[in-house]
This record gives sequence, C-alpha cells and structure tokens, in this order.
Amino acid sequence: MNAHLMRDEAAMNDADFSPWAAAQQQAVEAALDRWVPAAAPAGLGLAMRYGVLDGGKRLRPLLVLAACQALQGHAEAALRAAVAVELIHAYSLVHDDMPCMDNDVLRRGKPTVHVQFGEAQAMLAGDAMQALAFEVLTPDAGVDPLLQARLVALLARAAGHAGMAGGQAIDLASIGRSLDEAALRDMHRRKTGALLEASVLMGAACGQPTPAPASAVWQGLSRYGAAIGLAFQVVDDILDVTQASETLGKTAGKDVDSNKPTYVSILGLDAARRHAQALCDQAHDALRASGLGARAGALAVLADKVVQRDN
Ligand code: IPE
Ligand code: IPE
Ligand code: MG
Ligand code: MG
Ligand code: MG
Repeated sequence: MNAHLMRDEAAMNDADFSPWAAAQQQAVEAALDRWVPAAAPAGLGLAMRYGVLDGGKRLRPLLVLAACQALQGHAEAALRAAVAVELIHAYSLVHDDMPCMDNDVLRRGKPTVHVQFGEAQAMLAGDAMQALAFEVLTPDAGVDPLLQARLVALLARAAGHAGMAGGQAIDLASIGRSLDEAALRDMHRRKTGALLEASVLMGAACGQPTPAPASAVWQGLSRYGAAIGLAFQVVDDILDVTQASETLGKTAGKDVDSNKPTYVSILGLDAARRHAQALCDQAHDALRASGLGARAGALAVLADKVVQRDN
C-alpha cells in the first residue's frame, strides 16, 4: 500500500480535528487564565499574563493532549503538562525577543513584553513563567507523585542546558557564521525541537499506564516528536523569508537582517521545503511504527499542520 493511502487511514479528518482542537485550546486558555496570577507583585502578573494569554497557536499543548488521548491517559495531568510546556515556550519567546537576544518588537501580533513593560520586567516575567510551569506540574493532590516527577524531568531536560536554553546559546554564538547542516540540525533540535518532542512524551507519560521507554509506543512517539520538532524550526526559517509580518504576528525577514544561519540560508528555499516535507513523512512513519493506529489520528493531523502552515 502506498504511504499516502496508509496516512489517510490513520489521520483524523478535518471535520473531526477542528472541533477537537478548538475544545482543547479553550481548556488550555481557561487553565492559563486560572493559573497565571494577575496579582503577582509590582505588575509582574500583568507582564506574565500579557506574554502568555490571548495568542499563539498552542501547538505544544495540542501535542501533549493528542498524545495523552492516544493512550487514554490521565486528563488532569495532561492539562497541567499542556499548560506547563506552554509557559516554558512563552517564557522562551519573551527572552528570545529581548534586546540582548533577537531584539524584536512584535510578537503574537502585539508589542513584545519588554517593549510594553521594560526589559527588567520582561526578564522577570520569563523567570516567573518558568518557575510557574514546574509549580503547575506538582500539585498537592490529583496527580500521582511518580507521574509528577516524570513530567518534571521531561520538561526540565527539554528546557535547560541540553535543550532549549543550550540551543539558544548556540543560536547567539552562530550569528554571522555559516554552520554546516549537522551543526544547524543540532541547534534547531535543541532550541525548538526539544520542547516539541517533550510535549509529545509528556502526553505519553500521562498514559495509564505510562508506556515503558523501550516500548514501540514510546519509541515511535519519541521519533515522531523529534521529526516534527525539527520540521517546525525548518518551517519557521522558511516563513521568516516567505511571509509578511502581519501574517506572522512577528517581524518578518529577521533572520537575514540578523545574519543568522538557517535552513534557508544553508540549503536554499526549495531544498528547505523538501526537507520539511521529508521530516513530516518521517513523523508519519514513526506514528505507524508506534502501533497506535487510529488513536494517533490527531497527532497525524498535527504533523501535517506543522509543515503546512503560514504562521
Ligand atoms: C515560535 O514558536 C518560536 C519557535 C520556536 C520557532 P510558535 O510559532 O509556536 O509561536 P506561537 O506560540 O504560535 O506564538
Ligand atoms: C526561537 O527561534 C526559538 C526559541 C527557543 C524561542 P526564533 O528566534 O527563530 O523564533 P522566532 O522566529 O523569533 O519566533
Ligand atoms: Mg531566536
Ligand atoms: Mg527570534
Ligand atoms: Mg524564527
């Protein structure tokens, strides 16, 4: 059977996916609204809420919730994991936009947090969002402590020196340099891919029971997460040169202006597009290998959406 026929069998159709995604996004918005405190001291809560509420595609939460659903997992734990990973992501964006990093003034269609609230408050809002993510993951009751510890470990590893923060350090150290493809791939896997892969695995960890690390399910989901994680940043590099700021909700053309090595600068636009599609195909292969079948339907749609997006 050819790959596309097999893929169509596993994917949810759009009529089922769209209402599912809208309902999940609504639950995530409501939880963020509940858990990100307006009353934090000296206006800090306002800066945190500005940075994380009312914006963003919420892709990482959708990955958590889709993976959890594929394994009929623990809904409360997965909602907490979805909010936690979005908090880490939003904090990474607040810091990424600061003058000492990418120096950007537009994010999610609004002035960036440091433009609106000042640099010190933006730094602290990011710090507080990071800590809040781990607070949300560790409630006093309602989620098994062993699962809490697993979720904390997955998120901490993906966010820290070996993952997002390490990748961001490589990004800044690479300005004006031409990386080879292996070095670029390593940077993208860390700065962006790690949190996306962790989103999938956090959802999987919420499964009842959590799949063993050596199982086909865990291995397949891990490969799926790694493939879409890298594809996501390849597409981000492409959109930076092909879309307008209004569509992106952030400043277009930033990578060339800042002299950043990207998949477009290194492979060219056409090869970068082909590469993103090849990674999407790898993600579908990995889902098939997971043996989850139709239960992975939302994950299959999300892989396509990572590559076929315009913002
Ligand atoms: C932007 O991420 C930053 C990258 C990691 C490439 P998203 O494109 O997911 O941003 P939002 O959350 O939708 O604003
Ligand atoms: C950011 O990559 C990755 C993060 C960890 C935030 P970019 O710098 O390309 O993200 P955008 O284009 O500003 O959203
Ligand atoms: Mg950056
Ligand atoms: Mg940036
Ligand atoms: Mg970018």
